[in-house]
Amino acid sequence: MEHARRPLIAGNWKMNGLRADGLERARALAALAGAADAPPCDWVVCPPASLLLAVGPALAGSPVTLGGQDCHTAASGAHTGDVSAAMLADAGCRYVIVGHSERRADHGEGDALVAAKAAAAQAAGLVAIVCVGETEAERDAGRAHAVVARQIAGSLPAGASALDTVVAYEPVWAIGTGRTPTPDDVQAMHAHIRSCAPPAIDASALRILYGGSVKPGNAATLLRLADVDGALVGGASLVVEDFWAIGEATR
Ligand code: 13P
Repeated sequence: MEHARRPLIAGNWKMNGLRADGLERARALAALAGAADAPPCDWVVCPPASLLLAVGPALAGSPVTLGGQDCHTAASGAHTGDVSAAMLADAGCRYVIVGHSERRADHGEGDALVAAKAAAAQAAGLVAIVCVGETEAERDAGRAHAVVARQIAGSLPAGASALDTVVAYEPVWAIGTGRTPTPDDVQAMHAHIRSCAPPAIDASALRILYGGSVKPGNAATLLRLADVDGALVGGASLVVEDFWAIGEATR
């Protein structure tokens, strides 16, 4: 990496993992990270909410931190099935993903709700990983940059800073498909996102992750790009050796 922003490698386990395999994965990752001298990046894993209290202790003492996959806008209350940012913090989380395209699609979440969730996360002391990204139809129509600019304008809360906010660019068509944009397209989008950051955010310090079919085989190419500051990894984060190799690619 050619800049001072410390890379962040985030694993989104999505709705995968029971106690046995989740704990095994967390322990193996903690052991690898603990044995490495001078880790080249920050690490976070985001297991399903049911595993936070099991995975957290397994990571304790290692450089790998814990994150949630979503949070509610309220700190507590009558919201059956939801988890608040304060609860995630209480469970040991340092990060939470908000606005993932699967939540935007499956739960109809829009930019204003995503911004409110990010604000709730920041109020609870968490770093919000705010996801944006265009669909394939939007890219084919030449609207990818406009769509992402609109998402950035709408999904980052007013008080956000580069310390409590990370942006993840995840083109919807690249998630779980094995397809990725070209390195030139990724770099162009990340530079665009940096240029769209609201004035209150120090854009030069803002970490912008790429997500969508990141694997050990393409990680070095993607992570070497000037405005790519890490990765948000889905499928490959479920395989410890692959997730580890993606982090090593930041060296
Ligand atoms: P994949 O790495 O499986 O494509 O998923 C990316 C993602 O959605 C991470 O949030």
